[in-house]
Amino acid sequence: MQDTSAAIHPENSSQHEQGHTGVTIGAITQITEQDQALLLIGTSFNLGITSVSDGVVRIKTFRGQPNWNTTPAIISSASRMAKALVWTATDEEVAVVIDKTTIKVNRESGALSIGSAGQPQVDVISLQRNHEAVGDYTAFVALKQEDHIYGLGEKTGFLDKRGERYTMWNSDVYAPHVPEMEALYQSIPFLTVLNEGASYGLFLDNPGKTVFDMRTYEDHMMLQSWTGEFDLYWIEGPSMKEVLVRYGDLTGRMPLPPKWALGYHQSRYSYMNEQEVLELAHNFRDKEIPCDVIHLDIHYMNGYRVFTFDENRFPNPEKMMEELRGLGFHIVPIVDPGVKKDPMYAVYMEGVDGDFFCKTAEGDIYTGPVWPGESAFPDFTESRVRDWWQEQQRFYTDLGIDGIWNDMNEPAIFNETKTMDVHVMHGNEGERKTHGEVHNLYGMCMSQASYEGLKALLEGKRPFVLTRAGYSGIQRYAAVWTGDNRSFWEHMSMAMPMVLNLGMSGVPFAGPDIGGFAHHTSGELLARWTQMGVFFPYVRNHSALDTLRQEPWSFGKEIEAICQQYISLRYQWMPYLYHWFHEASKTGLPIMRPMVLEYPADPEVYNLCDQFMIGDSVIVAPIYRPNTEWRSVYLPEGEWVDYWSGESFTGQQHIHVHAPLAKLPIYVRRGAILLEGPIRQYADEPIASDYVTASVYLQDSGAAELEWYEDDGLTFAYEEGQWNKMRIEVAENEQGLKVSAKYVQHGYQPKRDSLQFCLIGLRAVPSAVSGLGERLMREAWDQASAGWTYDEERRELWVKLPERAEGHAFEVSYR
Ligand code: GLC
Repeated sequence: MQDTSAAIHPENSSQHEQGHTGVTIGAITQITEQDQALLLIGTSFNLGITSVSDGVVRIKTFRGQPNWNTTPAIISSASRMAKALVWTATDEEVAVVIDKTTIKVNRESGALSIGSAGQPQVDVISLQRNHEAVGDYTAFVALKQEDHIYGLGEKTGFLDKRGERYTMWNSDVYAPHVPEMEALYQSIPFLTVLNEGASYGLFLDNPGKTVFDMRTYEDHMMLQSWTGEFDLYWIEGPSMKEVLVRYGDLTGRMPLPPKWALGYHQSRYSYMNEQEVLELAHNFRDKEIPCDVIHLDIHYMNGYRVFTFDENRFPNPEKMMEELRGLGFHIVPIVDPGVKKDPMYAVYMEGVDGDFFCKTAEGDIYTGPVWPGESAFPDFTESRVRDWWQEQQRFYTDLGIDGIWNDMNEPAIFNETKTMDVHVMHGNEGERKTHGEVHNLYGMCMSQASYEGLKALLEGKRPFVLTRAGYSGIQRYAAVWTGDNRSFWEHMSMAMPMVLNLGMSGVPFAGPDIGGFAHHTSGELLARWTQMGVFFPYVRNHSALDTLRQEPWSFGKEIEAICQQYISLRYQWMPYLYHWFHEASKTGLPIMRPMVLEYPADPEVYNLCDQFMIGDSVIVAPIYRPNTEWRSVYLPEGEWVDYWSGESFTGQQHIHVHAPLAKLPIYVRRGAILLEGPIRQYADEPIASDYVTASVYLQDSGAAELEWYEDDGLTFAYEEGQWNKMRIEVAENEQGLKVSAKYVQHGYQPKRDSLQFCLIGLRAVPSAVSGLGERLMREAWDQASAGWTYDEERRELWVKLPERAEGHAFEVSYR
């Protein structure tokens, strides 16, 4: 994007790029089966077809011999589980059957169709090689009128990507994050097509530049690669959840983060010295605004040299860390990939001596300018380089640091192209590639080195890594923040579809800079953004150099109180959020979900992205415009309860909601069970009389259930069975209620004293609760270690039981 009218100079027209100009596979002259793959030899190029796992078919072009190696996006266990195939050929077509899936290829045109019985079928109407050059393929994929498209990672625009065009090329885009910006920091070339409730997925595994054009043609989209072979995975549905689970089988899942990483993070470019950091920490504790993490931006370093501290600004990091630990804070320092070219700097010289830096084709170390000036860039595609980088993390872990923030890892370089010369070479574990071929892998391989380094050094504690750049599979190593947004209301609302589509691309742990990074926030924007932001998976307030201060107390008492209330709410909801983080780590399904993932047959929600869900039962509908107190909220089928007032609504309608500045509209589906705990100042804060409350939103049918996961939230002991699953079941009829909460797995001893139940929307007034004696008044109940109380106005029954290893069961009788 240029910023003058020169941008629309006739010579800049790209129309010539858009036609069907390439050659198809040409007549298929030879068909062979090799290694459980079918190889089609065409006159222009060749195609291999193989299965990967249940419901996943891989189609890859090749020259000479097929190469089934994969990029690091694919986890090794999924890379080649080829299944037996059966094929037939006539003069017109070749048909391949793998399990229930049939792939047909037209022998003249190369047109392909893939589908399983009863599932939507994808028609690649043409796969073309565009020029004589190696690589550069385009697949033209038919779209039906009712098709909607989700995924594609971190992109601007709305939720449904039909009608958009995006480029996958990790880019440092300081400004502007506007709808016509085709590339940002992350590249996830995976999408799901939904048609009236049924779906399939396509993953174009190519870490060079790729283009997804859903705009130019009405009845088909173009998937284009610029280098290397065309390597396409077709992923069967029929539900979007099944597509996402299969994509997770292929590219891996988020490991369970430490609970503290789910807490509130405070950042600024930069907290300039030890004193400022400590004052900040004390401010949070004095004001009782919960916070787990403070980030250190680039000023902590000596001349922006990674793995150093500036001795004037941070003369005693050990002491600072000790004081922060005492207050319950974690420090997450920024670590960029650029290593300052300075023969007096040990890390640079180690990199030179060890041959760890990227080099030009001629063998010189490639350097480019970033924060520290001319810098060299480790070649993270090589495991020996990642091992070296891993060991460098010791500089931080020795101080008690257990989280790292990887920035500028597109890599960003302050030059014309904004990144490394595309002809720089990467070792790539023996299969050498140019930077242009693997550009989008750089940030992910760096995050891998950070994560694995921390994991090796933290002696059983879970690491936290935050990254700006990434590729498919990034969820295995890092949380993602969406880069340099601005303090614009538009960016607040855009954060919803952006993070929702990251979730639809296998990346559940993501969030924007709350309050906006560049430009100046206002009190009202900060209050509204914090309300919304605490329901995103990743929660960090961050702002740029020279912007107005943006800590929760920067805009007076009213705004501070709202920020405090909602950050506290995040901590109250922690047991529930953690439960959904665990689900995401097992299934790959997002924590923060677009409505369409839960209600794929409801046309109202196909592009609905100014409200979202937490898991499958909670709707959050923020206000995202200034001076606005009313909004419309869509409630899908079911019965919904206003979290604040307890008022009940029938679904499949829009409601008009009043939300003054202190209110974030939240709705809970009847039949759901929420889990909440006390407010903590940080995730692992010990609390006297600790409890979890299971709030049961009763529905007419009387049934509710949840299998609640918990563990220590800090170590990998859950891998050795130290985790719990409690099955909570509730059944109601005319006579009363039965509640059972039994451990189906009990390998971890929670520190809480009691488990509470809040039963919401009872049919009748309760007269007795088995084993708990007379009804208590609320205040007495608050003090008691066990008992029950009833709130007539809200029709809520509160039951408290001491924590018991065998679980709990009780019955409630109605009068
Ligand atoms: C980049 C990052 C931003 C950071 C700044 C200075 O712009 O995106 O978050 O504060 O660099 O390190």
